[in-house]
Amino acid sequence: MRIACLGGGPAGLYFAISMKLRDPAHRIDLFERNRPDDTFGWGVVFSDQTVENLMANDPVSGGVIAGEFAHWDDIDVHIHGQTIRSSGHGFIGIGRKRLLNILQERARALAVDLHFEHEASPDLADWAGYDLVIAADGANSRLRDRYEPHFGVDIQVRRNKFFWFGTNKVFEAFTFAFEKTEAGWIWAHAYRFDDDLSTFIVEMDPETWAGLGFDRMDQREAIARCETIFAEYLDGHALMSNATHLTGAQAWLNFRRIKCDIWAHENLILLGDAAHTAHFSIGSGTKLALEDAIKLAEVLNRPGLTRAAALAEYQAERNLEVLKLQNSARNSTEWFETLDRYLHFEPIQFAYSLLTRSQRVSHENLRLRDKAWLEGVERWFQSQARGKAVNEPAPPMFAPFKLRGLELANRVVVSPMAMYSAGDGTPNDFHLVHYGARAQGGAGLIYTEMTCVSPEGRITPGCTGLYGPEHVEAWRRIVDFVHANSAAKFCLQLGHSGPKGSTKVGWEGYDVPLDSGNWPVMAASDVPWSADNQIPRPMTREDMDRVIDEFVASVRMGLEAGFDMIELHAAHGYLLSSFITPLTNRRTDEYGGSLENRLRFPLELFRAMRAAWPEDRPMSVRISANDWMGDLGITPDDAVAIGRAFWAAGADLIDVSAGQTWADCQPVYGRMFQTPFADQVRNEGRVTTMAVGNIYEPDHVNSILAAGRADLVALARPHLIDPSWTLRAAAQQDYRRVAVPPPYLGGMAQLARNLQREAELKA
Ligand SMILES: Cc1cc2nc3c(=O)[nH]c(=O)nc-3n(C[C@H](O)[C@H](O)[C@H](O)COP(=O)(O)OP(=O)(O)OC[C@H]3O[C@@H](n4cnc5c(N)ncnc54)[C@H](O)[C@@H]3O)c2cc1C
Ligand SMILES: Cc1cc2nc3c(=O)[nH]c(=O)nc-3n(C[C@H](O)[C@H](O)[C@H](O)COP(=O)(O)O)c2cc1C
Repeated sequence: MRIACLGGGPAGLYFAISMKLRDPAHRIDLFERNRPDDTFGWGVVFSDQTVENLMANDPVSGGVIAGEFAHWDDIDVHIHGQTIRSSGHGFIGIGRKRLLNILQERARALAVDLHFEHEASPDLADWAGYDLVIAADGANSRLRDRYEPHFGVDIQVRRNKFFWFGTNKVFEAFTFAFEKTEAGWIWAHAYRFDDDLSTFIVEMDPETWAGLGFDRMDQREAIARCETIFAEYLDGHALMSNATHLTGAQAWLNFRRIKCDIWAHENLILLGDAAHTAHFSIGSGTKLALEDAIKLAEVLNRPGLTRAAALAEYQAERNLEVLKLQNSARNSTEWFETLDRYLHFEPIQFAYSLLTRSQRVSHENLRLRDKAWLEGVERWFQSQARGKAVNEPAPPMFAPFKLRGLELANRVVVSPMAMYSAGDGTPNDFHLVHYGARAQGGAGLIYTEMTCVSPEGRITPGCTGLYGPEHVEAWRRIVDFVHANSAAKFCLQLGHSGPKGSTKVGWEGYDVPLDSGNWPVMAASDVPWSADNQIPRPMTREDMDRVIDEFVASVRMGLEAGFDMIELHAAHGYLLSSFITPLTNRRTDEYGGSLENRLRFPLELFRAMRAAWPEDRPMSVRISANDWMGDLGITPDDAVAIGRAFWAAGADLIDVSAGQTWADCQPVYGRMFQTPFADQVRNEGRVTTMAVGNIYEPDHVNSILAAGRADLVALARPHLIDPSWTLRAAAQQDYRRVAVPPPYLGGMAQLARNLQREAELKA
């Protein structure tokens, strides 16, 4: 094949090498606009796994690269005058220029024709003599831009400003240094990549950047300012720029996140940064470029594969890996962009939050990397939770938590789950066994299902209620059992179905109206849940007064029944949620319009409940923190204001759920997918939060808690099939101080022993 490779960065060079290795008969011309020794940037980092891939593909260049790597294990986080060092992270770094020189030499040896100082034309017609044209011309690819409509290009320009410096200061650890200036926070990511050279990337938000005057400074002044700010870390060494061709503000970059739906058009193929980018804070761009090159060369040389099939396979395989890394990179980018959220953390928690920011590294990963450090975090967390020095490390999920006068034994919560198994609102033996088993299963707090304040407030005829004396009696029996037979506390979730009422029980069709016997429904406005549901009656002031009275009456009955805590359900499109989201609140009176107006009735109702509930018992509010409808609905930013408003009205915990407010919403599911909202509401709103949503491993729970992303963690579906989820988690972590019903102690010991034995065998 005759191939034109446009761009001589890692992607282009390594592709040329990989093709020649597979078939020396390929004729490859590589065109690079710069000279062999010119390059932007300084060092790049890799993982051990990437080096193994390089060795497997080409032991010659792989061996040279591996022999020249600078290796280090430690990460230092400098914040608020303290240095937090953790170890076991295993990075390797190499100079970008050195990497390119190694690859150039190898390409030459394999008879690739290298043409430097040659500006490649972005017009395919100029490459007519070639079978394949490879666009390896980097993030600003002119070829990609020229044929943009064919590639489905999506470019996001991120907000922070950064400058990629070098320095002769040799950093022994990968270093993150955060410094406060008069205009805001500014930080450096620094690592050694050679005997006497380190990369030093300076980053800050655009407000700080302008506030410090970087937009008006030339490079010399900017460098001098950065040297002063980071003097403590540079030990008198200078910062060096190799972007001297750029003037003043231009040398500061904004990261561009690039994604393409399609990576090939006719015989033009995108490779490396031209096809996708990953934020520098997770250091994976070069890895992706090199691995793209290996895969493309492999499929193009696979016997019997047509070119179309080869290209389809190249994209299918690489895309998955790229998406995973881009997701982690997005989390990491956002962490740095929302740094203000975490600056009030103590340094140890700040460092933990930084290390786990991409969500690729979890609590247990950190234990593997540096057990002693992680145990220090666990001791710190337990000491905070217990208000006294704790010498024994223990998983964060087993730290107690106090809400007003209520002490929870641990941070695991059974999330509210409708069982649709009641008759006329009365819970029965099913509920006794259901809640009893989950209370005995070890969670610190269990929630009732949404329990309704009136017959019309039920979602289905099977919903539980708390609006008559028979309900109080039935609930009291269950609450008494829970209190007598477990250490769990019991929270009553009270709600009103509003526009989503009068429907079938869950397993007969979610939100589907009853075949007969429907009752009229009401809401903030006459917006039905779907075309099949009833059009609700917009509530009058009299309706509001009546509903407030009903909630208050249920609160009093909840007290009689002996509940420890009450939650107001203001999420998921039910009555109160129909007021909060602008998608369903179309009112023109003082209960519609601005968020303040839309919150007026829910807050009034909440205050009335609070006044009827004893001072020393806590209350929570469940909210939908994202309508998943972009700016048309509630956004996580709104959720911060909503959380704060309920907090000011006396809530002790914001239970941060999301969605179910609009039938056509577009949720983005995934592991712990709603936790970022709990994090934002907690750390921007400075309130206590509970995270929920596809959290299913003890490792998830510990990571969320230790990183300060939430104070409690609720699990719903995992508890449906495993009422003893918490006891199992305790056994898995060999934690013995959890409350186990005495007759079950033997089972716990046996499980712990078996798990231990399995772990030993695996090791
Ligand atoms: C601040 C910063 C830090 C980074 N840190 C790391 C890190 O630690 N680890 C890591 O793996 N990655 C890192 N990266 C990313 C990494 O640099 C890129 O992902 C990687 O270089 C991509 O390789 P590439 O060959 O696709 O593109 P590039 O390296 O950009 O190479 C493209 C080449 O094409 C040439 N070119 C462009 N247009 C033309 C044209 N018209 N004619 C001829 N030649 C042309 C360019 O001169 C360039 O040499 C970092 C990036 C930044 C911005
Ligand atoms: C069967 C079932 C019933 C539910 N009923 C309620 C409910 O009554 N009140 C409520 O706020 N959320 C309810 N939810 C939502 C859960 O509390 C939880 O937010 C959701 O299932 C996501 O958590 P998970 O991924 O751990 O299941 C229900 C979920 C399930 C699976």
